[in-house]
Amino acid sequence: MKTIDVCLSPDLMHLYDVRSRVVVVVDILRATSCMVTALEHGIRSIRPLADLEECRAMRSQGYLTAGERNGEKVEGFDFGNSPFEYMNEKLVGERIAFTTTNGTQAIAKSHGAKEIIIGAFLNLSAVTEYLKKGNDSVLVVCAAWKGKVNLEDTLFAGALVENLKDDIEPDCDAPLAAQRLYNLAKNDMVDFLKDSSHVKRLNRLNIHKDIAFCVTPDQYSIVPKLISGELILT
Ligand code: MLT
Repeated sequence: MKTIDVCLSPDLMHLYDVRSRVVVVVDILRATSCMVTALEHGIRSIRPLADLEECRAMRSQGYLTAGERNGEKVEGFDFGNSPFEYMNEKLVGERIAFTTTNGTQAIAKSHGAKEIIIGAFLNLSAVTEYLKKGNDSVLVVCAAWKGKVNLEDTLFAGALVENLKDDIEPDCDAPLAAQRLYNLAKNDMVDFLKDSSHVKRLNRLNIHKDIAFCVTPDQYSIVPKLISGELILT
């Protein structure tokens, strides 16, 4: 039977052999929520980059530049890291180079996986169905915050474990912990997350409406995949 495991922080990636697994990278607040939103709204592709200057340099190749450090838009970049910025008809068909504090680092650390896909509450059911149909075991990689575990990515991992419980067996205790946490939180995730570190950080930056949006399930039915260094819809 296929198995599902959860890597609660990219700093724990050395514990997992990803070569035969589908990796689902998740950064609910807000990188992967943004990526899913951008691709749903017609962005042609997203090149996730761990390094800020490498991202900036992509402009010379015709990319728009996007992302944040510590939640704030990078100076000189075209866009920040709010999903609402990508609901923009003018961006249809554009390619974006994207770098974030944690989300794009988690993607970089997942290289070598059999497949890398992007998960968010916004595409939860689409990711669930995709994983059900596939033959491979799954690793959910939580972007966390600078190596420290966070609540919102763990809740998403738990939602996937819960949705897949009849089809995919949990590998260890991290998926069980995430699943139990999700079941405690699922009726009001905004309230459950209100004391979490990144929610407090975003509130301090006056970024309020992104939080509720990013924990809303099933707004989109797409599953972005990393192919040759670009996130695209296949
Ligand atoms: C990240 O990658 O760390 C986040 O997406 C930060 C943010 O909320 O902008």
